[in-house]
Amino acid sequence: MFNTLFLKPVRSMPAKVSMNVDGLDMDNIPQHVAIIMDGNGRWAKARGKIRTQGHKVGAETLKTIVRAADTLGIKAITAYAFSTENWKRPVTEVHFIMELLSRYLTSEIEEFKENNVQVRFMGSREGLPDIVTEKMDHAIEETKNDTGIILNLAINYGGQAEILHAVKSIAQQVADGTLKVEDIDAPVFENNLYSKGLPAPDLLIRTGGDLRVSNFLLWQIAYSEIWTTQVFWPDFTPDMLVEAIKMYQKRERRFGGLVQK
Ligand code: FPP
Repeated sequence: MFNTLFLKPVRSMPAKVSMNVDGLDMDNIPQHVAIIMDGNGRWAKARGKIRTQGHKVGAETLKTIVRAADTLGIKAITAYAFSTENWKRPVTEVHFIMELLSRYLTSEIEEFKENNVQVRFMGSREGLPDIVTEKMDHAIEETKNDTGIILNLAINYGGQAEILHAVKSIAQQVADGTLKVEDIDAPVFENNLYSKGLPAPDLLIRTGGDLRVSNFLLWQIAYSEIWTTQVFWPDFTPDMLVEAIKMYQKRERRFGGLVQK
């Protein structure tokens, strides 16, 4: 028999999340998992649907995966929902994703609270519709005291833009006399990133088959283990999350050092 974990049913969330955790070491679960949710458009095209339908189903998949991650004991998920480069897409698709985000942050807020999910965001607010930033603020405020899994949504996010933002912020502190050049080190730099307060991801998952980082978490993934799959994001399942974690557990993390004997 499979060793299966079940979750309580929650309103408007998938009734249950089950997964086969056979062979999984529950004492070595990655604390922070980052996800590039790629392949929504191709998923839709393969079914004769318009691309945006893939994003809609992809948003549902994210809910399922957050619940599965929480059950497994993962402490934070950072999901790439909209990149600084995604503005280049057709305006109708951009509008659809903004609308989807806005709806998601409205419809899911009660579920997040019921499930003790803390919602955070990373990225620039510049150019985002007011309705989206208002919903973001609301989600932050409503879930700020939640102590369960952190869902960190990367929206209007780019790793290079984030690094430039941190550099400018540090330069300003030096100019203001509140920071000395000789005191700039990795922790200071990290405190100026959007991901301030979150540990670096242990595991980066990319769906959709491409083998690139796509400007995601450029500083933070320095030592992350990477797992990719051909599967398109809407088809990603809790069992695939377990599979990624099993791979992670087989890897030997050395952080530039030598194997511990
Ligand atoms: C990549 O698929 C996906 C995106 C650019 C957007 C991701 C958005 C979602 C999963 C839904 C919105 C999220 C929330 C939280 C509401 P793609 O369009 O690049 O797919 P393709 O490579 O097949 O074209």
